[in-house]
Amino acid sequence: MLPPARLRHIAFSHVEADECGSLNEWLAAAPQAVPLCGSVAAMVSIDDIADRPPRALANGEALTLGKHSVRWFDAPHLPHGWECGYLMDETTGTMFSGDLFTQGGADHPAITESDILGPSETFRREMDYFSHTKHARTLLERRAAARPTTLACMHGSAWRGDGAAVMRALADELDA
Ligand SMILES: [Fe+2]
Ligand SMILES: [Fe+2]
Repeated sequence: MLPPARLRHIAFSHVEADECGSLNEWLAAAPQAVPLCGSVAAMVSIDDIADRPPRALANGEALTLGKHSVRWFDAPHLPHGWECGYLMDETTGTMFSGDLFTQGGADHPAITESDILGPSETFRREMDYFSHTKHARTLLERRAAARPTTLACMHGSAWRGDGAAVMRALADELDA
């Protein structure tokens, strides 16, 4: 935790109210910060709607934050949104996983090592929020290759384990 005034970047996966609807309020609270997003998000939305211009990241581009270094992965339409993508903190092996592996309901622990694919597939059957892009496996494989050890899910528990294996298992579920 740190005071908002010390923030330099406000990052998000894609443009949706629950992802970045409060972006301008955060920019007001963090006068030194700029939006941090993929180049498509910058081009189609954030250049127009944000109170300050974004720092747009190209696919595969890294950014050194000081103690941590992050890298951006474009993931168009996975699970949804042309501009969708994911940041990985390469210092800690943490992938900020947005809506992937969404677990329904409340009262999740902050972090878990138990199965998240089963609960997230149960939720997807109830409310299918995936675009079903035919490139899902390729996009998931790129993320698997980064070998994340923690998935910071937006909805539900963060998960610690073999991130590459669970990405490939999700690709199998999507194919099925
Ligand atoms: Fe979303
Ligand atoms: Fe979300």
